[in-house]
Amino acid sequence: MEKFLIRGGIPLRGEVTISGAKNAAVAIVAATILSDEPCVLENVPEIRDINVCIKILYEMGASIKIIDKNTVRVDPRGISDPVVPYELARAFRASSYFLGTLLGRFHRADVPMPGGCDLGDRPIDQHLKAFNILGASHSIDGGVVSLRAEQLVGSQIYFDLVTVGGTINAIFAAVKADGLTVIENAAKEPQIVDVANFLNSMGADIMGAGTDVIKIRGVKYLKGVTYGIIPDPIEAGTYMVAAAATKGDVLIKGVIPKHLESITDKLRKAGASVEEFDEAIHVHAEGRLMKTNIKTQVHPGFPTDMQPQFSTMLSTAEGVSVVTDNIFTNRFRYVNELRRLGANITSESSTTVIIEGVPELSGATVKATDLRAGAALVIGGLMANGTTVVEDIFHIERGYENIDDKLRSLGADIRRVNDYDSGRMAV
Ligand code: EPU
Repeated sequence: MEKFLIRGGIPLRGEVTISGAKNAAVAIVAATILSDEPCVLENVPEIRDINVCIKILYEMGASIKIIDKNTVRVDPRGISDPVVPYELARAFRASSYFLGTLLGRFHRADVPMPGGCDLGDRPIDQHLKAFNILGASHSIDGGVVSLRAEQLVGSQIYFDLVTVGGTINAIFAAVKADGLTVIENAAKEPQIVDVANFLNSMGADIMGAGTDVIKIRGVKYLKGVTYGIIPDPIEAGTYMVAAAATKGDVLIKGVIPKHLESITDKLRKAGASVEEFDEAIHVHAEGRLMKTNIKTQVHPGFPTDMQPQFSTMLSTAEGVSVVTDNIFTNRFRYVNELRRLGANITSESSTTVIIEGVPELSGATVKATDLRAGAALVIGGLMANGTTVVEDIFHIERGYENIDDKLRSLGADIRRVNDYDSGRMAV
């Protein structure tokens, strides 16, 4: 098993370019199924979740051409059997997007229950509610969700809670349905807008993406397009926080600063200097940061996907910070690991932690428990004095393209080692 070995205490300095957004790309790659012609996707991040997504398309019969490491051509016309292979679907959460896309194109889908990061309970009841309203029946047997519809007919969908995946899946099922679908209480995350822009460029009729009411008028045909995926706001936010946490000075390039406003605001409150440019953001910090309270919210609030990284940064801030995350039931699995680095964090409840800033962290062996927890522990390792080993880095590779190369280019001392190498290091 590979691990990261980090010698911390070095401020990050220099420039880093952000890759395409994981959570937009997983949806858009799956959405090529709805196209009646081949599509070329650009700025596709080279990460594990995307590899799985592409493999699912290939195994179902799509022709795939990898043009370069971030560009892929998908011809979905060879897919004839809308059944997603069991082991692949269980590897990640975004396999749920094959429910909406296969239903939209074939009026039937068999997709194993999605896997993904263990962040607590992750039901798909709202996805199923949307499919049912549009005319599909569902059953769950042997861990496989089956959808069947004679016809999909546009209707009104009101979500009981704001769900990113549910909103995107409802769009997928509605885009070729007969008539008008209105989604209310829709999610507003940047990836919703990116998915709608992709489908509209193919000839779909989707209005209101990015607001909480989305209207979709079904169309019969979607043409092939070349489409570039938005930069990853969470990858950008992770480098912003890493820069501030190491008292560094980093220009983060190829970003949409508007998508980062809640992170920018909290970093400034913590005492970092953040300067916005058209497509870049400059983060600089000196001295000790200050306590800052965080409460995660749906977009445009502070994202749950940045909570572990920000909490790690706050572990050496002056004063006591309160961090609340209500989006998932278990997004604090990294806290025990952070304590190994010397952080003083106590759980107030399952959704709130209290962080009493300590002057410094010290290196230790820690384990990534999920994607963002893993990114947080890498930041912890960069902040800590001495050597930190981050185990189970496959979680991190699900969502960060070349994180070790990118950090090294900023001056970090981070190396990828396997069990044998790290054993030798310890001797
Ligand atoms: N929920 C339900 N029923 C549903 C759907 C969701 O109760 O049918 C609940 C969830 O359990 C959760 C809340 O609603 O408590 C929000 O879930 P949402 O559906 O918005 O999340 P998701 O679509 O499963 C995506 C991202 C996550 C990100 C969340 C929130 C992808 C592949 N995943 O998940 O990303 O945290 O939105 O923004 O897009 C990550 O990248 O590390 C990650 C976990």
